[in-house]
Amino acid sequence: MKIGFFDSGLGGITVLSEALRRLPNERFVYMADTLHVPYGTKTPQEVCGYVKASVQTIMKEEVKALVIACNTATSIAVAELRKEYSIPIIGMEPAVKPAVEMNRTNGKRVLVLATPLTLKQSGYAALVSRVDDHGSVDSLPLPELVQYCEQLNFDRTELSEYFNRKLASFNLEIYGTVVLGCTHYPFYKEILKEVLPSHIQLIDGSQGTVRRLKQVLSERNLLASPVKAGQSQEEHVTFLCSSQDEAYIHKMEQALEIYTEHEKI
Ligand code: SIN
Repeated sequence: MKIGFFDSGLGGITVLSEALRRLPNERFVYMADTLHVPYGTKTPQEVCGYVKASVQTIMKEEVKALVIACNTATSIAVAELRKEYSIPIIGMEPAVKPAVEMNRTNGKRVLVLATPLTLKQSGYAALVSRVDDHGSVDSLPLPELVQYCEQLNFDRTELSEYFNRKLASFNLEIYGTVVLGCTHYPFYKEILKEVLPSHIQLIDGSQGTVRRLKQVLSERNLLASPVKAGQSQEEHVTFLCSSQDEAYIHKMEQALEIYTEHEKI
């Protein structure tokens, strides 16, 4: 059986890429809700309905576990999905806890970048108050970055100008860690590193999510066995999208290639 991955668009590919590296024997089905991306600027009610409809489609593939590889969708719908389905459902959470821990000894602050909707959720406020004893976490919504990513726009000049504009009111010297709290954002790690002072570390939630996925599969005896020599190897990833658009399927394949190559450097 396959592992399902879901995102509003291309962002979850940053998590899928990590899963392909850590779980090389598994097969995946990745679905993007292309009819409704972006989620981060919509209402919670809209997003909840869209996520549920897409998850219904993925469940038809008879997946053994599901990763909601989207911070916005997780914050809105993961609790309801877990009530509805019995398979393990793993969500994303902005990596605020490890970011706060990374700054424990240097007295620096944490800046969380995410969609407006993720930052507005009570789950985000609860997470910050749970892990941040010193009031050292700030946030900045970057909804446009999702659109840049959906267009596979990696123009260094345009993106650097965008980040500089968005960060202009922040004194970046006081930050030690920047959290990428939307799965689309890791596509821009390299450009962000050029824009931010060199002491700032970037962190995203994909490694923690994939570690959790592996642990859950192992606890339930659901890990795939290694493919034996001579056995034919099925495609690792099947891509689906709600608009059933061949061009977007190609774009997802391209995005996975770009991100995976990028991560090797
Ligand atoms: C979006 O669709 O606006 C981005 C979703 C995310 O938080 O990863």
